[in-house]
Amino acid sequence: MRIALSTGGGDAPGLNAVIRAAVLSAINRGWDVLGITRGYAGLMGEEPCIPLDRKAVRGIAHLGGTILRTTNRGNPFNYPEKQPDGSFVEKDRSDELMENARSLGIEAIISIGGDGSLAIAQKLHEKGMKMIGVPKTIDNDVSGTITTFGFDTAVDTAIEAIDKLHTTAESHDRVIVMEVMGRQAGFIALHSGLAATADVILIPEIPYDINSVCERIRARDKAGRHFSIVVVAEGAFPKGGEESTMGESLPGQARRVGGVAEKIAKQIQEMTGKESRSLILGHLQRGGQPTGYDRLLATRFGAAAVRAVADKKWGQMVALQSPHIVTIPIAEALRETKRVELNHDVVLTARAIGIGFGD
Ligand code: F6P
Repeated sequence: MRIALSTGGGDAPGLNAVIRAAVLSAINRGWDVLGITRGYAGLMGEEPCIPLDRKAVRGIAHLGGTILRTTNRGNPFNYPEKQPDGSFVEKDRSDELMENARSLGIEAIISIGGDGSLAIAQKLHEKGMKMIGVPKTIDNDVSGTITTFGFDTAVDTAIEAIDKLHTTAESHDRVIVMEVMGRQAGFIALHSGLAATADVILIPEIPYDINSVCERIRARDKAGRHFSIVVVAEGAFPKGGEESTMGESLPGQARRVGGVAEKIAKQIQEMTGKESRSLILGHLQRGGQPTGYDRLLATRFGAAAVRAVADKKWGQMVALQSPHIVTIPIAEALRETKRVELNHDVVLTARAIGIGFGD
């Protein structure tokens, strides 16, 4: 049996732990494992696939990133191809991928990725490739799994940043607005903001009113709390408004969300007279060592994916449905993007202790 692994989309701490667990589980069954490099580039004739043996995965469980490398511009069904005039057209190169996989003797692929990569996995499955999915994203926005690896590490990184901002904000009587990742999901902002005791948390699931945000800051000021910390998800937007985006994205890449923190800080300063600063935490959230929780979850996912191959659960994705790792159809996970539920106890807890959501 020869299987292959692919990591696609934005990286997330824990990818290497999945790779290690999948490779060791497969080798221990007597299987052979290939690593498809840079998303699916290794199957598009752009670079070779790499053999993954015990030595290749030694000492990587605690490392961030992915030894296979990744891309969010490599959808084989819409592959961007540069034209002689410098423009790009998107081509369906999935037949080429299938053919290359066949010629390498690949019998099944474990695709480790977020919603974009899982959608590609589903389409390859429909084309006849034997696919198993492993959900990955720091955004925690994949349905059907309680959480994804990478999320806990990103939240920890954000908490550490908010703790540091607290001391400088307090010294200067300032408002500091910190923007975290998450695309259209507010999980990183909500969890880090609550754990690190932010004063206001703005998430895409609750469009904000800047007057309400300023009201909260003025009230704190009156109560002798002359500083405030606002944690904003990059996809948050004002009532009746739109999410902020950051310039052009490259061919084949999704729209880049972000830039809302700077706008909010400017409005707060204008409306309250309080000196305000903003910060985009950015890719720090995607880097570094996975937390113990993420390492363990990633390891469990990697081994479960190989069990799913052995059980021929094609088109299925491993998922955490505590306390168990289960498999569910990838198509089911793709039905809707997971979002923060407004009546979830994490939201209720934040409200109960006085955190504002700008509504
Ligand atoms: O989906 C993961 C994520 O980190 C999002 O939170 C963020 O909007 C996006 O990827 C950033 O992508 P890039 O690495 O292309 O800037």
